[in-house]
Amino acid sequence: MGRAGLAAVLLLLLRLLPLLAEGKRAAKPRCPAWCTCTRDNALCENARTIPRSVPPGVISLSFVRCGFTGIPEGSFSLTPSLQLLLFTSNSFDVISDDAFMGLPHLEYLFIENNNIKSISKHTFRGLKSLIHLSLAYNNLQTLPKDIFKGLDSLTNVDLRGNAFHCDCRLKWLVEWLGHTNATVEEIYCEGPAEYKKRKISSLSGKDFDCIITEFAWSQALPYQSLAVDTFSYLDDEYVVVAQPFTGKCIFLEWDHVEMTFRNYDNITGTSTVVCKPIVIETQLYVIVAQLFGGSHIYKRDSFANKFIKIQDIEILKIRKPNDIETFRIENDWYFVVADSSKAGFTTVYKWNGNGFYSHQSLHAWHRDTDVEYLEIPRMPHRARTPHLILSSSSQRPVMYQWNKGIQLFANQTDIPNTEDVYAVKHFTVRGDVYICLTRFIGDSKVMKWAGSAFLDVQRMPSRGAMVFQPLQVENYQYAILGSDYSFTQVYNWDSEKAKFVKFQELNVQAPRSFTRVTIDKRHFLFASSFKGTTQIYKHVIVDLSA
Ligand SMILES: *[C@@H]1O[C@H](CO)[C@@H](O)[C@H](O)[C@H]1NC(C)=O
Ligand SMILES: *[C@@H]1O[C@H](CO)[C@@H](O)[C@H](O)[C@H]1NC(C)=O
Ligand SMILES: *[C@@H]1O[C@H](CO)[C@@H](O)[C@H](O)[C@H]1NC(C)=O
Repeated sequence: MGRAGLAAVLLLLLRLLPLLAEGKRAAKPRCPAWCTCTRDNALCENARTIPRSVPPGVISLSFVRCGFTGIPEGSFSLTPSLQLLLFTSNSFDVISDDAFMGLPHLEYLFIENNNIKSISKHTFRGLKSLIHLSLAYNNLQTLPKDIFKGLDSLTNVDLRGNAFHCDCRLKWLVEWLGHTNATVEEIYCEGPAEYKKRKISSLSGKDFDCIITEFAWSQALPYQSLAVDTFSYLDDEYVVVAQPFTGKCIFLEWDHVEMTFRNYDNITGTSTVVCKPIVIETQLYVIVAQLFGGSHIYKRDSFANKFIKIQDIEILKIRKPNDIETFRIENDWYFVVADSSKAGFTTVYKWNGNGFYSHQSLHAWHRDTDVEYLEIPRMPHRARTPHLILSSSSQRPVMYQWNKGIQLFANQTDIPNTEDVYAVKHFTVRGDVYICLTRFIGDSKVMKWAGSAFLDVQRMPSRGAMVFQPLQVENYQYAILGSDYSFTQVYNWDSEKAKFVKFQELNVQAPRSFTRVTIDKRHFLFASSFKGTTQIYKHVIVDLSA
């Protein structure tokens, strides 16, 4: 405490104290050991403990250079008439919750020059009459949120001479300073470097970016998987996982009590690579793509409570399916299967009210590995036109545009400067269309639609990548780059840089797909694995200033 501070305290003491002459007479046997008492003040020096009682009439109690190590809960509950408490030049560093419990008349509390490093949240609880509080010249780096809550009479706060670290934990103080009616002495940040020596009152809540997110591991499914999809059906959310080795489509539902995913039903086949759900009106269909034994369409029979096979997909066209997308154009439902065999055709199927019929075959002989449906504005501010992008092992990705007149995909163009692309997936940020292009080795990349073509935005090193999946959770845009040889890298979109920045690493063995699943306002990430167990992560949002 500086000289000026000490003088101020002494002045206050004097103001509270009656005439000194009277004080002398009041020294009584009941004055605690180590203390000297006047009629209404006791001053204790080198005290080993906090006295349990003081003479009646004492309303101010001071401790100087005392030997106790802390102020425990309820230390003053037997001296309820105290109006002033002062601690100075003591060495204690702990003040417990409710240390000043039972002091309804306490108006002045000075805890100065004491080395206190931290103070607990409920230290001052119940001090309804407190007018003046000083924690000046201690070693405080932070103060717990709402520590002044309930101190309804507070008009003066002195926090000078501490080493405040102005991070998210102090955001509340910055906001409190902005709206409190109490007079607060000017205080400064000691850290972090960017705020060193800044007046805390010159900061605002907006200077702190305290919300962080994370994919936290939550559950493993004891089997390998390829594609994972999610769908709503009869007011519930489901997940379907393609299990290639047992050949199943495994359906999961959310257990609202246990808060985990549990088995719902299975469709059993062989070498299942994709199980694509499509709900038309209230009917659920599932397109089951298999490497062997042909691909089939199932329907959910809600009376029999089971899946029934309703249709086969032409074996001549679809020989080695690799990916399926579903979409809707002008009230018509479609799905498209990318075929990766040499003799197969990537084919668009259309719902005709009774079943799905092949509508258009695209791109024969190209061994397509992936198909993506997206809508992009061909002209700025114009309506979005449906497009398909096909990736194949034989050439650059090609883009088809929906031709409304003939109701077909036409006008094939390729995406320049993109060799060896295994898959293309899109996302939009503020109306702009971007694509993530997966390459197994080399660089995967992000491109942006610039009105007539996709242009490079960013490259990410790929080390055995079979998936580079953009994924949106609330207002957060992520992209997840899987790796067979290293960790999966999660990127987060930085809207200022208009680029992805590294965000988190996940350990998934041979990842093949990443899918967001939202249930009961909770967001999950399903990470399929071709060689290990399927992992489920939960998207969590943490407010560091809370
Ligand atoms: C400050 O004083 C004004 C006027 O008396 C009052 O309306 C307001 O609620 C007070 N603010 C706080 C944080 O106590
Ligand atoms: C579905 O398959 C999974 C994985 O093989 C199995 O654990 C589960 O018991 C099956 N569920 C049903 C309802 O058949
Ligand atoms: C193909 O694209 C060109 C240029 O974008 C356009 O002029 C032409 O009308 C398109 N053709 C079809 C069939 O959509």
